[in-house]
Amino acid sequence: MCGIVAAASKTNVTDILMAGLKHLEYRGYDSAGIAILKNNVLNNYRQKGNVEELGKLLDATANSNIGIAHTRWATHGKPSKENAHPHIANDTIAIVHNGIIENYLDIKNKFLKNYKFLSDTDSEILAHLINHFSKDNEILDAVHLAMAEVQGSYALAVLDKNNPDKIIVARNGSPLLIGLGEEKNFIASDALALIEHTNRFVYLEDGDLATVSSEEVKIYDKNKKNIRRETKKSSLSLNSHSKDGYDHFMLKEIFEQPNAVKSTIENRIINNVVPKEILGPNAAEYLEKFKVVQIIACGTSYHAALVAKHWLERLAGIPCHAEIASEFRYRRHAVQKDTLLICISQSGETADTLSALREIKKEDYYVGTIAVCNVPESSLARECDSTLITHAGPEIGVASTKAFTTQLTALMLLVIVLGKRFEITPDLENSLCMQLKTLPDKIKSTLALDQKIAELAKIFSDKEHALFLGRGSHFPIAREGALKLKEISYIHAEAYAAGELKHGPLAIVDENMPVVAVAPNNVVLEKLKSNLEEVKARGGKLYIFADKKAGFKSDEISQVFEIDAPMNPVAPILFTIPLQLLAYHCAIIKGTNVDMPRNLAKSVTVE
Ligand code: F6R
Repeated sequence: MCGIVAAASKTNVTDILMAGLKHLEYRGYDSAGIAILKNNVLNNYRQKGNVEELGKLLDATANSNIGIAHTRWATHGKPSKENAHPHIANDTIAIVHNGIIENYLDIKNKFLKNYKFLSDTDSEILAHLINHFSKDNEILDAVHLAMAEVQGSYALAVLDKNNPDKIIVARNGSPLLIGLGEEKNFIASDALALIEHTNRFVYLEDGDLATVSSEEVKIYDKNKKNIRRETKKSSLSLNSHSKDGYDHFMLKEIFEQPNAVKSTIENRIINNVVPKEILGPNAAEYLEKFKVVQIIACGTSYHAALVAKHWLERLAGIPCHAEIASEFRYRRHAVQKDTLLICISQSGETADTLSALREIKKEDYYVGTIAVCNVPESSLARECDSTLITHAGPEIGVASTKAFTTQLTALMLLVIVLGKRFEITPDLENSLCMQLKTLPDKIKSTLALDQKIAELAKIFSDKEHALFLGRGSHFPIAREGALKLKEISYIHAEAYAAGELKHGPLAIVDENMPVVAVAPNNVVLEKLKSNLEEVKARGGKLYIFADKKAGFKSDEISQVFEIDAPMNPVAPILFTIPLQLLAYHCAIIKGTNVDMPRNLAKSVTVE
């Protein structure tokens, strides 16, 4: 959600900023801008639309040794040139900001009554507030004083005409890191923006301020005390940016799933045992103590939570609640003593999940917190007692695919570890490990349905609505299928537990309503078959993704796609694949922007 990139160098930085923005575009893409300092003048280039549109404004004269840049996902104020960042105050201070300033109206009234605002954003007040304080203070003090007034979240980079060789940055609640180079240093909201230039990063913590010039980086804590933060080497590779011959990142990421799942289990299954050490040194205490599990997550990660709840209860006999983080955060909940909290998040920066975690940590009912996350340096990973990393590799497509299947894979490992003190016997552990190990090949075979699903999409893509049905641990998979279709093809799709159909939704089933069913060969198969008969009886068209042994046959009303998903707990991971492909191919036929669907952004860092 919004991306920041900034650089100070001995040479021109415009290309670095533009390339960085391009890599960050998946985080927000409704407008973009760059401010550079040249001959003691702040030059501001902003444009509605994507980074390519911004590039059209820049000619050879747009060069400088220092600059800040931003790609936006609108929160306050519609996407427009005026609302695009950077925002400038008094021709002197330029800022780019990620996050939300909750008290921006109070700040306007208290400090900035006579200022003229040119945008509808909350962010613009930061430029004016810093300008206000800079009249009587050094720029670092001005930023510090300004941030002390702010309630909300920010990752901020500031360019000051009167301090032409440094950028001032501040972080609270939104990710920000400093990249270290030779005679140049960088700032970004995401390491991906800078990986062409460096793999050495310093991750700022909440409350930190820093000054960054081409020669040095100075970091200060919230009391403005000079501090050191560890430099970390990133394992990201340039390949993360490439589509590798695929037309879209989403398709590349769908086809990366066999390897991503393989990497997620690698070194974590030893002789068909999952060692508790996968949770790191802090786990010993809570593993012995916890009685109940609470999972929080959002969106696709919440669907992973729902599958994990099924697994924890069915396989391990561990009571588990799963809830959407934004709901959990704002309601009173009765928590049982010795609850273990699991937070699932691909990015590890989702504000709803993070703020729920921070609230929960204030209570003493919880014995421990575990992050299931794809980004080791993320806030979530740093703030939980243990982190189980999903080795999906960077996911660029906004619609989550490989992040989801690797979350499920990691969650199955977690269920095994947590369940050993409950009902997971050595035999069950052995069998679950064997099933996990077959997954990469089984996913590969499922991907072979691609062309058949591309054909199906031709029927599907002119529909306005679709229903997805599943039962048990496959109901969350039906939900995920519906979410994928909505997100990238804009077809309205809803998922129901198949048994609920007769309690209402059957009313909307007719020959124009495509119904997608997820049909594993499990204990509720016969029940599901009856539910599907109810659809057929109303003339509804059925598209059934079924295990080959489930006994479905295509006929004039239903089309069956067979999947080799043996009757075992990991089947939900396999049934996810065709639904991702269906959404992808529908979006292609409809001509939508698959990797950057409208109104969405990756990593939602505002509540
Ligand atoms: C959907 C999607 C979103 C995210 C949600 C949570 O394809 O990607 O629903 O799953 O915004 O994001 P994370 O997992 O980063 O917390």
